[in-house]
Amino acid sequence: MKVTMVMLSSIDGKITNGKDPDVYAWTSPEDQKLFFPLIKKNNLIVMGRKTYEASKSVIKLENGKLRIVLTRNPKKYFNQSVKGQLEFTDETSRELVKRLSALGYKNLLLVGGGIINGLFLKKNLVDELFLTIEPMIFGIGKNIVEGQLLNTKLQLISSRKLNKTGTLLLKYVVRNDTRLTNNSSFL
Ligand SMILES: NC(=O)c1ccc[n+]([C@@H]2O[C@H](COP(=O)([O-])OP(=O)(O)OC[C@H]3O[C@@H](n4cnc5c(N)ncnc54)[C@H](OP(=O)(O)O)[C@@H]3O)[C@@H](O)[C@H]2O)c1
Repeated sequence: MKVTMVMLSSIDGKITNGKDPDVYAWTSPEDQKLFFPLIKKNNLIVMGRKTYEASKSVIKLENGKLRIVLTRNPKKYFNQSVKGQLEFTDETSRELVKRLSALGYKNLLLVGGGIINGLFLKKNLVDELFLTIEPMIFGIGKNIVEGQLLNTKLQLISSRKLNKTGTLLLKYVVRNDTRLTNNSSFL
């Protein structure tokens, strides 16, 4: 299973402006033009519960597209779940990827947030990263990755300037030698 992490960040690595969960308040139209088709063409999307809460007003459930929300309390969301379209789980990142691979899924789009990104990176489950950088500095906000000490090494595959202000789309693959280092603990 190929796991693609897709994130939007400020220049200083923030995925939110302070505590405001609304990323659409600052993302450029050019990024949105790429992000929404990406969501449309992928049939498996995984996110953390806080990201779900922040984006549920724009989520459109549809047949043949499975969204999985990681929460430590899936029972609490039982009445919001729609089998095959929106499911809540407390599986570990590894268990989840193993189960979904066995079901035949070939690609997984990991859309954050920082805590869930950390859980996937820690277990070396991410293959590539699509990172949009908006030319803004927030100073305070949530980070692309939260709560894990990592040593993930990436290789830049392509870079594209999306507009006049200089929004950048950077595509990376996770280097194979990351797998040797990420599991050792420095804490
Ligand atoms: N700029 C971007 O590209 C981007 C992308 C995504 C999100 N965001 C923003 O980032 C914010 C959310 O990010 P975040 O890092 O705070 O949260 P998050 O990663 O979206 O979700 C965190 C939640 O995941 C669940 N969780 C944590 N560890 C778990 C585990 N071991 N097993 C199962 N579930 C686990 C917990 O849910 P429970 O508390 O229910 O147990 C936890 O509160 C939002 O404001 C969103 O708008 C920005």
